[in-house]
Amino acid sequence: MNPTASYCDAPIGIFDSGLGGLSVLRAVRAHLPAEQIVYVADSRYAPYGARDDDFIADRTLAICEWLVAQGAKALVVACNTATAQSIALVRERLSIPLVGVEPGIKPAASISKSRVAGVLATQVTLRSARFQALVERHAADLRVLCQPGHGLVEAVERCDVSSPALVELLRGYVQPMLDAGADTLVLGCTHYPFLDMAIRSIVGESMTLVDTSVAIARQLERVLDQHGLRAQPATPGDGSTASGTPARFCSTSDGAHLRMLAAALLGIDARVECVSIPSRRTRELEADAA
Ligand code: DGL
Repeated sequence: MNPTASYCDAPIGIFDSGLGGLSVLRAVRAHLPAEQIVYVADSRYAPYGARDDDFIADRTLAICEWLVAQGAKALVVACNTATAQSIALVRERLSIPLVGVEPGIKPAASISKSRVAGVLATQVTLRSARFQALVERHAADLRVLCQPGHGLVEAVERCDVSSPALVELLRGYVQPMLDAGADTLVLGCTHYPFLDMAIRSIVGESMTLVDTSVAIARQLERVLDQHGLRAQPATPGDGSTASGTPARFCSTSDGAHLRMLAAALLGIDARVECVSIPSRRTRELEADAA
């Protein structure tokens, strides 16, 4: 493959069930500032953790196809749940370079001194064959305490990252891990890095929080290099900015929360496009509702 310069200038498509992928976008912008980004939050249908496998596969494929149609040169499925459930299908169907995300079991196994680590992730991620294989491969000598984070994605989706009710919900998930001697907590959902302050208010410095967003940005860099797809850094005077072209933000919901979270947590004043990305399952839902 010998991509032309203009193809290298094409955007990277990043997608999540909702706002969580912004934690990945933040790392990608910091690590690869010359890259343009199109971000899709499928907030209308979040949380995926409450959906069936076919629904998640249907949405993941439809959104990846939509991003390809928008001209994306590479895709990041910035959702552990969609990756665990559907990345094999997307790889089979689309020939575009693709990066998925998975809970940081491998780093946890190398960090933990107590040899007990907690994993917070969606139920779909935790019960997936992909996650089970990850634990078997990297954590044979680690006690892994898996906890579904029911209610956490919903909290971040309404931009609640610090309310007393949220902290109590988190305490119920994290305190038993502390009691069992865990010194490491894997944030196995891209929404959860936005809860780091709330988690710290409970665990203090007694746990290392494992967030893989920077590793994902590095993996994306490797994949772009393998395919000769890296955007060239801006040259002075060409009208672009040193911190990269502003991302294009798209939401399948009204976009208000995406804008709010991007401003509050990333300091980005984002204009959000409301987009419609119909798929087989959402057409069925809408037909049932009519
Ligand atoms: N950010 C998604 C993940 O990493 C959340 C999934 C959901 O919507 O339940 O799994």
